[in-house]
Amino acid sequence: MEKQLENGSERVVLKVEKLRIHYATPQGDVIAVSDISFDLFEGETLGLVGESGCGKSTTAYGILQLVQPPGYIVNGSIEVDGTEVLDLGEEELRKFRWTGLSLIPQGAMNSLNPTMRIKDQIIDVIESHEGKQKSKEALRDRIFELFQNVGLPNRIYDMYPHELSGGMKQRVCIAMGVALHPTVVIADEATSALDVVVQRIVAQTLVKVKDEIGVSLIVIGHDMGLLAQIVDRIAVMYAGKMVEIAPVENIYAEPLHPYTRLLIDSIPSIKERKPLKITEGITHDPRNPPSGCIFRLRCPFAWEHCAEEEPEPIDAEHKHEVACHLYDERFEERRANAFATFANS
Ligand SMILES: Nc1ncnc2c1ncn2[C@@H]1O[C@H](COP(=O)(O)OP(=O)(O)O)[C@@H](O)[C@H]1O
Ligand SMILES: [Mg+2]
Repeated sequence: MEKQLENGSERVVLKVEKLRIHYATPQGDVIAVSDISFDLFEGETLGLVGESGCGKSTTAYGILQLVQPPGYIVNGSIEVDGTEVLDLGEEELRKFRWTGLSLIPQGAMNSLNPTMRIKDQIIDVIESHEGKQKSKEALRDRIFELFQNVGLPNRIYDMYPHELSGGMKQRVCIAMGVALHPTVVIADEATSALDVVVQRIVAQTLVKVKDEIGVSLIVIGHDMGLLAQIVDRIAVMYAGKMVEIAPVENIYAEPLHPYTRLLIDSIPSIKERKPLKITEGITHDPRNPPSGCIFRLRCPFAWEHCAEEEPEPIDAEHKHEVACHLYDERFEERRANAFATFANS
């Protein structure tokens, strides 16, 4: 894969390699993240999509070393600006979170402390890393600047969370996430709990803050339509695997993986009312994945070979990687036939 974006930097700020995370259960290990690898470039916004339960949040926790038991990291490497996160000790990690990597967790706005004023919650984040600040005025000005970055009015400084709307609370969480200017911010379903109009505004806020503060951003979501408007590249996950990664315009114009094709096909459109082809839900037991390709039980194109060999990511096109045997040179003829049949169905 060519490591350069059209108009962005080619410097890799986050490099994830062969990350594998399991949850131990009495019935055996649930494979939540299965050997995924990807790069995040400086200044880039990468969207991570896939249906509920495919391992998006676990990937985020893994990158921040926040996987909780019974979850554990089986193998992998996570480098941020050349630092191997997996080698950091507890104290180093504590410093690194928020400053190197920060997470705006799923449901963050509901975990704001209801008994603390907004200002005190943000001051906590700043002072827990930088120690007691000498000048209260400077601290307040810094928080006002953060408010401005995320489009919040200064009057909320003294307010409590219950006095704010959902969109405002989510902006507070974004402000906290970027307060210490981390290299990489991961926003996990940051807009999912909001109504659609507010979703869009908050999503745009994320990108605006990213540009102003100069961080690199991973946006986790399941709404391909919303993500399309704010990300540079999209990575698609299915059942713990990364099945496709590509610049956003390529993936919408020509999705390659059969799962991505179904995902994009299922974006509702007013112009063309069509029945949904996709069925919700991963069909296999996550403790006992099928042999070969993870998607083959739901794939309209699967054939015997898909059960025999696991597809490795292939550079199918310029900057476009896909893990599917149809894009293997050996099966070129099959690909042409498969899609011709599909188009006519
Ligand atoms: N504490 C847990 N114990 C067992 N399995 C878990 C636990 N947390 C998550 N999982 C499983 O890990 C998989 C990935 O979950 P998650 O990362 O939350 O997915 P997503 O964020 O994409 O919805 C799912 O199959 C889920 O059921
Ligand atoms: Mg999640």
